[in-house]
Amino acid sequence: MPGIVIVGAQWGDEGKGKVVDLIAEKADVVIRFQGGNNAGHTIIREGDEFKFHLIPSGILYPGKTCAIGNGVVIDPGVLISELDGLRRRRIDTSGLKISANAHLIMPYHVMLDTAGEAKLGKLEIGTTKRGIGPCYADKAARLGIRVQDMLDPKILRKKIMAALEPKRQLLRPFERDPALDLHAITEEYQRFGHRLEPHIADTAKICWDALDSDRLVLFEGAQATLLDLDHGTYPFVTSSNPVAGSACVGAGVGPTDIDEVWGVAKAYATRVGAGPFPSELFDDVGKMLRDRGHEFGTTTGRERRCGYLDLVALRYASRLNRLSALVITKLDVLSGLNPIRVAVRYRSNEGAVLTEFPYHQTVLHGSSPEYEDLPGFSEDISECRTDDDLPQAARDYIRFIEDFVGVPVNLVGVGPGREQMVRRGAQSGSLPAS
Ligand code: IMP
Repeated sequence: MPGIVIVGAQWGDEGKGKVVDLIAEKADVVIRFQGGNNAGHTIIREGDEFKFHLIPSGILYPGKTCAIGNGVVIDPGVLISELDGLRRRRIDTSGLKISANAHLIMPYHVMLDTAGEAKLGKLEIGTTKRGIGPCYADKAARLGIRVQDMLDPKILRKKIMAALEPKRQLLRPFERDPALDLHAITEEYQRFGHRLEPHIADTAKICWDALDSDRLVLFEGAQATLLDLDHGTYPFVTSSNPVAGSACVGAGVGPTDIDEVWGVAKAYATRVGAGPFPSELFDDVGKMLRDRGHEFGTTTGRERRCGYLDLVALRYASRLNRLSALVITKLDVLSGLNPIRVAVRYRSNEGAVLTEFPYHQTVLHGSSPEYEDLPGFSEDISECRTDDDLPQAARDYIRFIEDFVGVPVNLVGVGPGREQMVRRGAQSGSLPAS
């Protein structure tokens, strides 16, 4: 059985959680490989709503191994409250495994994230203020605190002491006396360590063992390709690499362990936070997409910016991840919209036609999209389950995406429920029976 990576192919919030939840049923291991509690997944299971920020979506299957890989940054307080929430609802959490090498988000990371945004003023990135960037910065600077450190009080104290002084200096312009008490933080993280100890494990080995015995490992991406630290719209990006290649580093497997890469994209586009978004709409269509698509952030509750599907950006994402399949979500939201517009190229400030996503930020900032108009549909498609159930215009829309991007669409989301998916093509063979 293969290693399958699921990634976001736009700016996040594409509905990856639902896709992971679907495939997780067949998987032996589900592992997250980057990001932290800046992510947010909502899963609806038999009418019950579950929101996750850190725990892999597969946790709803009793006893399934759900791992938080070394590439994730973990806020242990948030993780413990998610665990408590699941236990209160009598969900078995014994399958949760946490990499001993994952880095911890510390109180000063959250403070620095907020202070950093305040300092940028109008130029702010619009981060989730969960401390993600400062935590990854400490990891790279080798000042990070890792999960395993919580189990050794002496080491923990030493490392926090080393990390703390530069933070005090950085925070001083914002708070005269930042509440950073070495003793209190050490004690708190030691307590977190005791609570999480039964879950701490060698998560890379868990993946190797599963892959070696031909079992399915699902690598669950968070955020999305255009928010990638290297390939996204820098600096308006997150501080990790949400592209598929990063599953190897963030989980501890090799490139040849990956057999399939599924990219998830909405039938339109959204973005939260600042940064370029060529096909953004400021009109009634944008408002309609926001209202009908309930486009408000799971993590911060912020309104999402909405726009038409951008195929130039999607093809770029497809190539960066070498997608083997696409999942198009929320097609039902487009019902009643006629025509449906899709961006097929950009026009630069100087009038040049751009068929590729521009690598130069100045060019991207000055680019406007050019659209192709496709016929809309007005039917309620929420009960459709096969390609043949879909109205012709909806089928043609999906086919247009496939042809443009050059990647088959194996699933189409037609509603928020787990079962509200149209299964298409041979690729959906990796899925459990509906
Ligand atoms: P950070 O990841 O909190 O540092 O935020 C950096 C950028 O990524 C901001 O524009 C956020 O809005 C965006 N971002 C982070 N996580 C998500 C997500 O899960 N969905 C969508 N956008 C995200």
